[in-house]
Amino acid sequence: MHPAVAFLALIVFSAMEWRVTAKIGLTAQSPHLALFEEFAVRYNKQYNNTEEYLKRYYVFQDNLKKAETLQDSERGTAKYGVTKFMDLTEDEFRRYYLTPVWKAPAKPLPPATIPKKDAPTAFDWRDHGAVTEVKDQGQCGSCWAFSTTGNIEGQWAIKKGNLPDLSEQQLVDCDKVDDGCEGGLPSQAYDAIIKMGGLESEKAYPYEAKDEQCHMDYSKVQVYINSSVNISKDENDMASWLAENGPISIGINAFPMQFYMGGISHPWRIFCNPEELDHGVLIVGYGTKDETPYWIIKNSWGKNWGEEGYYLVYRGGGVCGLNTMCTSSVVL
Ligand SMILES: *[C@@H]1O[C@H](CO)[C@@H](O)[C@H](O)[C@H]1NC(C)=O
Ligand SMILES: *[C@@H]1O[C@H](CO)[C@@H](O)[C@H](O)[C@H]1NC(C)=O
Ligand SMILES: *[C@@H]1O[C@H](CO)[C@@H](O)[C@H](O)[C@H]1NC(C)=O
Repeated sequence: MHPAVAFLALIVFSAMEWRVTAKIGLTAQSPHLALFEEFAVRYNKQYNNTEEYLKRYYVFQDNLKKAETLQDSERGTAKYGVTKFMDLTEDEFRRYYLTPVWKAPAKPLPPATIPKKDAPTAFDWRDHGAVTEVKDQGQCGSCWAFSTTGNIEGQWAIKKGNLPDLSEQQLVDCDKVDDGCEGGLPSQAYDAIIKMGGLESEKAYPYEAKDEQCHMDYSKVQVYINSSVNISKDENDMASWLAENGPISIGINAFPMQFYMGGISHPWRIFCNPEELDHGVLIVGYGTKDETPYWIIKNSWGKNWGEEGYYLVYRGGGVCGLNTMCTSSVVL
């Protein structure tokens, strides 16, 4: 940290501490108060009043315990701790960043063809120009739209040779089968996109992180898709399909993700019921580190979360249900 920044931070801390001490009766001995203040400064948290400040401080302490429980029982190499979501209750986190638990799709998709040959030992579509920069969904349960566009960006890049940056907002606003910021399913969004005649670019239909009137302009459509497929639940098959065909849209139970800071996440099942998917993301690759196999998952919570916006998860155990809702669009 630059000395001037450190000095400034010190002043801010002191000011906050004075305010807190004076108005709420906390002291420097209050547990984790310095950590909370550092967090509030780092993520520019604006708490309107002392009640709000105090409430967030208690939520923060609660969350530290949850992160610790995850850490103590972690079977992989993940670190759990103070993320930018550390002042949100589980309910708030769910409401702002996840979708309601995924139901089965109304119309099942036809099965994908799994390549016969063995998958390479590692593969990463980021090295093959099929993955755009990590995006940020903001406080809107539109993860399903990001999972969908990420998949289509990959399919288009691989089939057509250029990587588009596609509009999530068009899906949030215009896909009426899904519920915009209140959640949705990629398996349904593919159909909606086919009916709409394609997707506009991020630039043409920019992201606003809120539900809006649909203002799609068909003349600005940049890509189309022709159909969609359901990919196997077998993680070896998933790897084979991915290496041959492109990134896979998946659903996952995101509970551990609120506290994830990096490393290969391998939580016990009790922390993320595989039958309760509540977040849409994108598998872009896989590998093995020190004999631990993992998936590389692109998330949509900005680059200041996880591994530069990515989530590494143990591969081979159906962790958090990541293998149960694997789909892709098809571009012909
Ligand atoms: C702060 O106040 C604004 C305006 O009254 C309100 O919209 C917002 O939700 C408040 N923020 C928090 C964290 O309570
Ligand atoms: C894919 O197939 C599995 C059964 O193997 C099923 O549980 C799942 O709902 C299907 N998903 C879609 C999107 O069709
Ligand atoms: C794929 O969809 C596009 C857009 O609807 C269409 O123009 C094209 O003919 C389709 N390709 C095939 C092979 O069906």
